[in-house]
Amino acid sequence: MEIGFHGHACFSLASKDKRIIIDPFIKGNPLAKINWEQVEADAVLVTHGHGDHLGDALQIAERTGAMIIAPNELAKYCQSKGAKVHAMHIGGSYHFDFGKVKLTPAWHGSAVIENGEITYTGNPCGFLVFMEDKVIYHAGDTALFGDMELLGRIYQIDVALLPIGDNFTMGIDDAVIAAQFLKAKTVIPMHYNTFDLIKQDPQVFQKKLEEKGLQCKILDIEERFYL
Ligand code: NI
Ligand code: MN
Repeated sequence: MEIGFHGHACFSLASKDKRIIIDPFIKGNPLAKINWEQVEADAVLVTHGHGDHLGDALQIAERTGAMIIAPNELAKYCQSKGAKVHAMHIGGSYHFDFGKVKLTPAWHGSAVIENGEITYTGNPCGFLVFMEDKVIYHAGDTALFGDMELLGRIYQIDVALLPIGDNFTMGIDDAVIAAQFLKAKTVIPMHYNTFDLIKQDPQVFQKKLEEKGLQCKILDIEERFYL
């Protein structure tokens, strides 16, 4: 399968015949390199309601007919905007035609904020995606938490997508501990350098992971990782 990085926390996961996109923040991302109006997806997974994650999900879902998969309150918000949705919640998993999705905890907030108006959209999440015979973990926006060790114990994670930007999420040092907990075969950093507040050097992260015997792959925007 193929993992594509589209900037910030946005990744696409593609098997032979299905493609999903996670946290499609493209139009508003100054670093994005693809046209958000041409994104194709069979499903759109959204970790939480913040603009840099919900992003273009509603527009992509409307244009492509893709279903939005999200925590219940956020799914209901998207449904109220006309999207076809599948609501889930933390700890729950479901088999879709592209594979299985399980929602994991994430320590963060979740709200849609428009013109200063805050609409809370429940709890944020991370995603475990089981596609073909691979396991991908997208942590969402989160702090380091001890139950990542549990995920590492239960699942053979092939690739972990971890935020390293600090300020709003884990920074580099906490993400290194997360990677040790998760025992993923490969770690891909995300949620950094999009804005000044989350400026980080991913090479530092890579070096610290390698010192712990862990493998890191830094993806340029629009670079692909094959597994
Ligand atoms: Ni957020
Ligand atoms: Mn974010």
